[in-house]
Amino acid sequence: MKKLRPEKKLGQQPRLPMGFPGCAPTIRALLTLAMWKGRFASETAELVRRFSESVSFDQRLFRHDIRASLAHARALRAADLLSPQELDSIETGLREIETEIAEGRFSFHTGLEDLHMNIESALTERVGEAGARLHTARSRNDQISVDTRLYCREEIDRVSGRIRDFQQVILDVARREIDTILPGYTHLQRGQPVLLSHHLLAYVEMLERDRDRLAGCRIRLNVLPLGSGALAGSTILLDRAAIASDLGFDSVSSNSMDAVSDRDFVAEILFALALLGTHLSRLSEDIILWNTTEFGFIRLSDAYTTGSSLMPQKKNPDVAELTRGKTGRLYGNLVSVLTMLKGLPMTYNRDLQEDKEPLFDSFDTANLILEVFAGMLTEAAFDRERMQAAAADPLLLATDLAEALVRAGLPFRQAHEAVGRLTAHALAQGRSFREMPPSEFQEFSGFFDDDVLNTLDPRNSLAARDNPGSPAPQRVRAEIARWEQIFSAETPA
Ligand code: ARG
Repeated sequence: MKKLRPEKKLGQQPRLPMGFPGCAPTIRALLTLAMWKGRFASETAELVRRFSESVSFDQRLFRHDIRASLAHARALRAADLLSPQELDSIETGLREIETEIAEGRFSFHTGLEDLHMNIESALTERVGEAGARLHTARSRNDQISVDTRLYCREEIDRVSGRIRDFQQVILDVARREIDTILPGYTHLQRGQPVLLSHHLLAYVEMLERDRDRLAGCRIRLNVLPLGSGALAGSTILLDRAAIASDLGFDSVSSNSMDAVSDRDFVAEILFALALLGTHLSRLSEDIILWNTTEFGFIRLSDAYTTGSSLMPQKKNPDVAELTRGKTGRLYGNLVSVLTMLKGLPMTYNRDLQEDKEPLFDSFDTANLILEVFAGMLTEAAFDRERMQAAAADPLLLATDLAEALVRAGLPFRQAHEAVGRLTAHALAQGRSFREMPPSEFQEFSGFFDDDVLNTLDPRNSLAARDNPGSPAPQRVRAEIARWEQIFSAETPA
């Protein structure tokens, strides 16, 4: 079998070691049990721990959690709630923990429920009382919101970069194939000739709207929730604006109850990624069709196709099929988060923990399909002759004939009718328009002139569509130049 995907899933951290059940409890575990166990007389059932833990997946947010904790600690220091030495030891401790997690040397404990408690207890174990002061004026409810926002910001930038890379690949193909003509289809019936470049640039447009949507999500999510506490802020007043600017947020949230329970930003990202999936799935469908023996418009490279275990002759477009298939996951992730949200009373409810796996999965899936699709398209070869031959059917220029009559003065409805009768005549005789002399055309309308056969050249037809947005070669070239300019303006000098 051919290798279909990179060794490592993009954007996915390696699964980090978990705690070892059965080992003697560490001091850290004991410290943690004290985090919210004050009012409990007995232990959480082991089954409930496994059911409710999130550290097995939210550990992916460790950099964001630590970054937010550092900003929070600085604000505590500014409010004189930490001494300079305490701030110092918290900073050193958190940096150490960050390095250990990044290097896979940190062991997470599901008994500590989530990432926040794992990090906080490890910190307290290392630096003592200073660690125990860190959670002042903070709740995990505002903490998880800030972590998720920081993560989304970063992932939006990453996936937007990949969308750009993919648009660049399409643009390169569009430039190379600027002379390739193929039929454009409606209802999957041949309609009118177009340039392959024009067809491909349609996807650059769709992908640009996907990027725009993600950029809009980024603007709306870039609001600091920290300071909202569990739901009602805190009597301990920290400088929220300072924390916001420390973390690169544009503003602070205006309503603590909204801030801890809002996951609009997750839902709208999932929608933007689902629609990106839709676009890539449509392109997949084009490629799958073009790759059939019946169409024969595209040949995929061996590296991006797979064989059949039974039929030796097969070479399958699995990358495109899996992209189409994985779009289902992107939709599923959106629907699962919307459904999770719809019945929640104000404010934070534990259901909200269910936002993370769909979110992570959608970013991973989107990055992966963009990367693999770019590779497949780079190596694909178009069969220009077959496309051209398919586009050469003069019936595809029936509309051009009608428009020639309009230019000669005939109302469009009558022109349409005349060309319709002409078409029926040609089909009944099994003859092509090109085999018919001008006099035969003139039997159907006196408005046909002796140059009518020139109308039947697809290149003339394309060149005549000289309006912005149309597939005239000069217009498509200008579009390619426009995109090149947009892309190069973004490239860092
Ligand atoms: N793991 C939780 C989540 O993802 C973090 C917040 C927990 N808050 C709580 N009150 N249990 O939403």
